[in-house]
Amino acid sequence: MINIKNYINLKYNPTKNDLIAEYYLEPNKISLPEAATNIAGESSIDSWSDLKTLSSRIVRQLRPNVFSINKKTKIIKIAYPQELFEQGNMPQILSSIAGNIFGIKLAKNLRLLDLSFPKKLASSFQGPYLGIQGIRNLTKVKNRFFIGTIIKPKLGLSPKQHADLAYKCWLNGLDVVKDDENLSSMQFNNFYERIKLTVQAKFKAEDKTGEKKLYMPNTTSESREMIKRAEYVKKQGNEFAMIDILTAGFSALQTLRESNLKLGIHAHRAMHAAFTKNPKHGISMRVIGEISRLIGVDTLHIGAFGKMTGTKNEILNTEIEIESDFIPAKADILEQDWHGKKPVLAVASGGLYPALLEKIYPKMGNNVLYQFGAGVHAHRHGTEAGARAVRQAAEAIMNHTPLKTHAKKHKELAVALHQWRG
Ligand code: 3PG
Ligand code: MG
Repeated sequence: MINIKNYINLKYNPTKNDLIAEYYLEPNKISLPEAATNIAGESSIDSWSDLKTLSSRIVRQLRPNVFSINKKTKIIKIAYPQELFEQGNMPQILSSIAGNIFGIKLAKNLRLLDLSFPKKLASSFQGPYLGIQGIRNLTKVKNRFFIGTIIKPKLGLSPKQHADLAYKCWLNGLDVVKDDENLSSMQFNNFYERIKLTVQAKFKAEDKTGEKKLYMPNTTSESREMIKRAEYVKKQGNEFAMIDILTAGFSALQTLRESNLKLGIHAHRAMHAAFTKNPKHGISMRVIGEISRLIGVDTLHIGAFGKMTGTKNEILNTEIEIESDFIPAKADILEQDWHGKKPVLAVASGGLYPALLEKIYPKMGNNVLYQFGAGVHAHRHGTEAGARAVRQAAEAIMNHTPLKTHAKKHKELAVALHQWRG
């Protein structure tokens, strides 16, 4: 069915009160403008047939405008008046511009590529609490990137084993330890016990090394329980809480951010590939980054060219690939001046090991937390050697020394380079 209303208005100049959405749109058996006008209508005020209830007043005040259609790239841009959106309500915003339209028959493929928020709507969200500078102030890590680990195995360790392993990682040079995305409160690993022991281990490691360490415990759960867990994290004296922003949902993220607990928020993006992986359909990582920054995460997983993305060839030869299309864009999404929201620290994670760090560092830079799970705990000589190898690799990179050269005097790094070749 083709909608009767025409929301195409190529002469329209978007105003500062519009939310602008950019989509890739492949129409299904109709023209691109016809598909575009339907997408615009369905995502705002209209439906599939001529509504007798849609008054000219409503259309005048709230109509979306498709102001750009590129037939070659199939990219369209729609300006939505901000009155269509409830302040501070991300689920409502997404139910409009990223809702029904993904399933609509007249679009063969539809991908939300980018969003631009009007000021007032943007200011109804708090943005990051710490931001990159806040994390640097807290840790006193000024001129280098951060290194960390995810405790492995993902599931199965007891709270004590978890805390002991975390201690070893901090002691042997890592800045950050985080829980894995599917570790919450398990029969074998109670959340409260784990947090208590691991935060104590963190304090011990700080005393021993003289360095500030970070722990990112996964509070992901039903939102009331999540807040209870986050309160406990705070009470133990920890500065960060972690949440799986997509499985828990943006609303849960906002609940955590606006809880006034004054915790840094580490965001894991588990499930993102369900939206981001198909380059023709879904939601881009760029959009997930924008929404996360707006609501207020301090650190966000963005991929790493490791186990989750393309081949080594792609790392070195292409700027844009399916999942990691966000990596070259990280500077403008996470770090640029944007609605007064603090910059977010990118987290490179998923299949990282020391030799790969040397290759991705020139692309990703210093405003990154590089995380190694198996890249630490699968080191041939164990976790402690694995952590040392990562620290040695980081030191080499910061001193502009090739890893191979540095490895001549650092045996843990030498073993890691032999074990996992670039
Ligand atoms: C993550 O949550 O980012 C992964 O657990 C990374 O683990 P890996 O380094 O073993 O791939
Ligand atoms: Mg993980």
